[in-house]
This record gives sequence, C-alpha cells and structure tokens, in this order.
Amino acid sequence: MSDAARQAILEPLIREEDLHQGIKELVDRIATDFEGDELHVIGLLRGSFMFTADLVRLLYRHSIPLVVDFMTVSSYGGGIESSGTVNMIRDIDINLSGQQVLLVDDILDTGRTLDFASRRLAESYPASLKTCVFLDKPSRRVVPFEADYVGFTVPDLFVVGYGLDYDGRYRELPHLSVVTSEDG
Ligand code: PRP
Repeated sequence: MSDAARQAILEPLIREEDLHQGIKELVDRIATDFEGDELHVIGLLRGSFMFTADLVRLLYRHSIPLVVDFMTVSSYGGGIESSGTVNMIRDIDINLSGQQVLLVDDILDTGRTLDFASRRLAESYPASLKTCVFLDKPSRRVVPFEADYVGFTVPDLFVVGYGLDYDGRYRELPHLSVVTSEDG
C-alpha cells in the first residue's frame, strides 16, 4: 500500500443517509420494471460488493426473487488510472441463458469494465441484460456506454468509499468521499 493512499485527505461528498435514499429510489424503479420476474443479479467485484449487498436486500423487500452471483474483473490494479485492458479474474458459475440479468457495478467511468462484462454476459444469451451502477462519471467515458439504472452522477473527482478504493483502502466507508490530497 502506498504512503499516498495511507495519508490521503478525504472530504465527504455523499452522506450515508443521502446515499441510502438514492439507492432506495433506484431499487423502487428496478422493482417496478421487474415486478414478478426472477432476476439474476451479477455483481462486479471487488468494487460493487457493498452496493450489491444493499441492492439485493432492498429487492428482497420488494419480493423480487433473485439469483446472485459475482464476477471479478480488474483494470485499475491498485492505481488511479485505468490500464485500458480489462482482465477476467473470476467468471460467474451460473447459467444465464434465457434469464433476466442485472449487471451491477460501483462506478461507470471510462466504460471499459461494463462494456467488457456486459459483452461477456451477452454470450450466455440472457432474455434481457440491464446494467445498474451506484455512480456514473459521464465526463470520463472512453467507450460509449450508458447504464440502465444510475444511483448518482458525479463530476470527475477521485471518489472513495462505499466499495470504491484508493490502493485497497477506504472501501469500507459507509458514505462517499473525495480524495482532496494524496500527500497529507
Ligand atoms: C473499478 C470499478 C469499476 C471500474 C470502472 O474497478 O470498481 O469496476 O473500475 O472503471 P471503468 O468504467 O473505467 O472501466 P477496478 O478495476 O479498480 O477493480 P476493483 O473493482 O477491484 O476496485
């Protein structure tokens, strides 16, 4: 872990209660769209672990039957800049053929990760494939990609918390913060 990550100065951006209110409204929309249908939720690790966990618990309250699995992909390594290449670390175990699928990630940034993961899932011929992100940073897009469900749209800031990391740190924050200084 770098000294810069350890000594970063963070400023709050989205408070925990506002974050949960936004996600609740997002899940209300998803539940309306999928009412009565079984949904296969695929979370992209590692960043989406917290968002996916909250999402599926809220969907449960809407009585949406779920199958939940995770796929691990990585393009950033430990750093800030995307390498430009998305690597498959661990694929899903379940068969998505003919299923309604919701692909979940923490953030849509350059678009490379969701483009890669959604192409991979489409190879399984799901009946439908929708994407859901906690955060969207449209100003950073390199690959044209729009998510079907977006929790919050954010400017081009280095954000951490609620699953998002800086060199492995800060994923555990229950709110979203901005890294304002990396040298303490
Ligand atoms: C981060 C994040 C998204 C992806 C978005 O993952 O979790 O999956 O980058 O960026 P993109 O739109 O530019 O592709 P990362 O590769 O850092 O791995 P992580 O999930 O383990 O943090």
